[in-house]
Amino acid sequence: MENKTEWWKQTSIYQIYPWSFQDSNGDGIGDLKGILNRLDEIQELGVETIWFSPFYLSPGEDFGYDIADYTKIDPRFGTMEDCDRLIKEIHKRKMKVVLDMVMNHTSDKHPWFLESKSSPSNPKRKFYIWKKGSKKPPNNWISMVGKSGWNYDRATDEYYYSNFLSFQPDLNYRNPKVKQTMFGVLDFWLKKGVDGFRLDIFNSIYKDESFRDNPLSLRFFPTPDNHDEAFFQKKQYNLNLPESFSFAKDVRKHVSKYKHKPFLIGEVSGSDQVLKSFLGENADGLNLVFQFELIHFQFNAKFFKNLLLKNETIFPKPFTPTYVLGNHDQRRYIDRLGGDKRKAKLLVCFQFMARGVPIIYYGEEIGRKEGRISNFKGKDPIAKMNRFVPLFLSNLIGIYINRDNCRLPMLWDDSKNAGFTNGTSWLPVGTFQKEDTVAQQKRDKDSLWNQYRSMFQIRKEWQAVREGSLEVIETNVMDVLCFERKYKETILHVYLNFGNQLQKLPLTNKTNLIYAFGGSKLRESFLELPSLSGMILRMTESKSLRK
Ligand code: NOJ
Repeated sequence: MENKTEWWKQTSIYQIYPWSFQDSNGDGIGDLKGILNRLDEIQELGVETIWFSPFYLSPGEDFGYDIADYTKIDPRFGTMEDCDRLIKEIHKRKMKVVLDMVMNHTSDKHPWFLESKSSPSNPKRKFYIWKKGSKKPPNNWISMVGKSGWNYDRATDEYYYSNFLSFQPDLNYRNPKVKQTMFGVLDFWLKKGVDGFRLDIFNSIYKDESFRDNPLSLRFFPTPDNHDEAFFQKKQYNLNLPESFSFAKDVRKHVSKYKHKPFLIGEVSGSDQVLKSFLGENADGLNLVFQFELIHFQFNAKFFKNLLLKNETIFPKPFTPTYVLGNHDQRRYIDRLGGDKRKAKLLVCFQFMARGVPIIYYGEEIGRKEGRISNFKGKDPIAKMNRFVPLFLSNLIGIYINRDNCRLPMLWDDSKNAGFTNGTSWLPVGTFQKEDTVAQQKRDKDSLWNQYRSMFQIRKEWQAVREGSLEVIETNVMDVLCFERKYKETILHVYLNFGNQLQKLPLTNKTNLIYAFGGSKLRESFLELPSLSGMILRMTESKSLRK
């Protein structure tokens, strides 16, 4: 069934967080018309697929990840007409649209939940997971946010389950009606022509049927790529259940009925084996899953080399790895680099040139920095839960609490509020320099924005980057990473010098320079790679580097 030219294997994904991208009506919150006004600029950057964080009707307690109606647009963002127009205009520009789909839970203000809560005999009761407990929660399950996932409802003397926050009750996929209803929601959007879905906490869809207690574990802190052992618990019975793996195949089968072959990308976490189970042993599950290793990169060639080797071993073709530097839940990567845009250029070249799908979070292309909003002042519900934890302490122990800080408005230009809004921005724009904005970086050919643009262009131009094989090449220089991308007769080599020293590498056959940055030079018989520079070459022969 796998066809190597499937578009989603070759694409790149750009995530827009609608709250913070572009406001058009002065209410301080981004909206669909605002995004529409920026579509040409998104296209100019080279974006191929846009993923939108939720803009459905929502009380907004988790900024859209708490949905009150899956087929309505929240008035903060506009109307269904705006949405239809947005989809149309994106397609007109030959880009694709991916919507965020929160299948695991709804808002507790969703009419289904209000009905469900109203009485144990209500037909919607079984839409959610309700259970009796004898004066204590029915079992020991800890949610992803580190507290009991059971929420007591005094009126009916039962508990409902939520694997995230209490106002996000989990749907009960053991009820066939829930499955059917949610497939109907997918159909609603697929008929509007959306090209795929990003599936929120998809690894949480099923919970153990007999509600067994989770075993204990010694681990306390979760990491971005592993939630399944955390808070002193191995989450064997409330995350990553085999039923969720087979549900991935059901959803894939369902969406595959559509002629335009929509795709699915799952937010799941766990070991590589778990990730692979969501993709299906015959690549017949989710098309892609987020791989979060780059969220905690170490800035040295060895780290990136090992990541490539690992992905080529565990996710060889027909699987497609993904490379993610950040999203609306994680500290921005530029802050992890101490703001160093030269280092950022290396990371981006790696992300775009590796075999797989690069996923870019809005603002990464200009090196948009984090905010410094304390947990106490946070709007993010996770920050509110932890409001007495000082920011420096959460930073020190390496856990990310106040997600407001990675959701600050886009920096478009040096006008008021960086061109994001005429009104009062919902989150502070923060201090910034002219050089930090899109407008200025577009003018500067050495800017990070232009590095991203070149990377998008190189992907478009070279089949070898989009679907070629990947092989790591030994250079014998510890600080330099080199890898080969090959498609039919075309061979490209990527060199990245992560170290502090200038490196010279001999060349033995004819080459053409495709791209150079950071002062690297292609000399007659060797390559000159200053510290933090990189180069992409077309080779006439494979593995042309000698010791
Ligand atoms: C994961 C999303 O990325 C996050 O922003 C959200 O708060 C939770 N899922 C709950 O939907």
